[in-house]
Amino acid sequence: MESLEINSDEQMQKLGKAIGETSQGHDLLLLSGDLGAGKTTLTKGIARVLGIRRPVKSPTFTIVREYREGKMPLFHMDMYRLEDGDLSSIDMPAYLAEDGLVVIEWPQFIIDDLPKDYLELSIKRLDDSWDSTKRIVEFKPVGERNMTWLLEIKKYFE
Ligand SMILES: Nc1ncnc2c1ncn2[C@@H]1O[C@H](COP(=O)(O)OP(=O)(O)O)[C@@H](O)[C@H]1O
Ligand SMILES: [Mg+2]
Repeated sequence: MESLEINSDEQMQKLGKAIGETSQGHDLLLLSGDLGAGKTTLTKGIARVLGIRRPVKSPTFTIVREYREGKMPLFHMDMYRLEDGDLSSIDMPAYLAEDGLVVIEWPQFIIDDLPKDYLELSIKRLDDSWDSTKRIVEFKPVGERNMTWLLEIKKYFE
């Protein structure tokens, strides 16, 4: 697994921009990491580069937020409230079939119901102090498209 050190909120959004610029329809991005790691912050960067102006909020209580006004649809999901793994309230296959980007926070709760190919980012704090802005992002690309996608993303940080 490869990793990238991120030192600020802005840099996390820059990573989001690299992801958004290189994303294609039907891509699936999984964002793992504790509360406050920066999953939603990264998604804000993705939304901005797709031309979505509406503020991106954590979809914790709605599970999915749809943004269709950008270059391509963005479906931002948060599975934190789905600890029992009951996905019946959202039509996941329909979202995955759309020509858009699906971003899922807390994917571990539904991992058995997801396609086998995805790009997973695990965001971890580097220091214990609550106000530290340092993060390490570990990448796990599964499948050919996601390995290619990761190479394109990494070019923004060379
Ligand atoms: N390097 C960083 N990357 C992402 N967020 C950071 C970073 N440093 C500080 N922050 C702050 O941490 C918080 C992360 O919140 P959020 O993105 O909602 O986390 P999550 O969605 O993972 O629970 C934000 O207030 C953000 O400004
Ligand atoms: Mg969040």
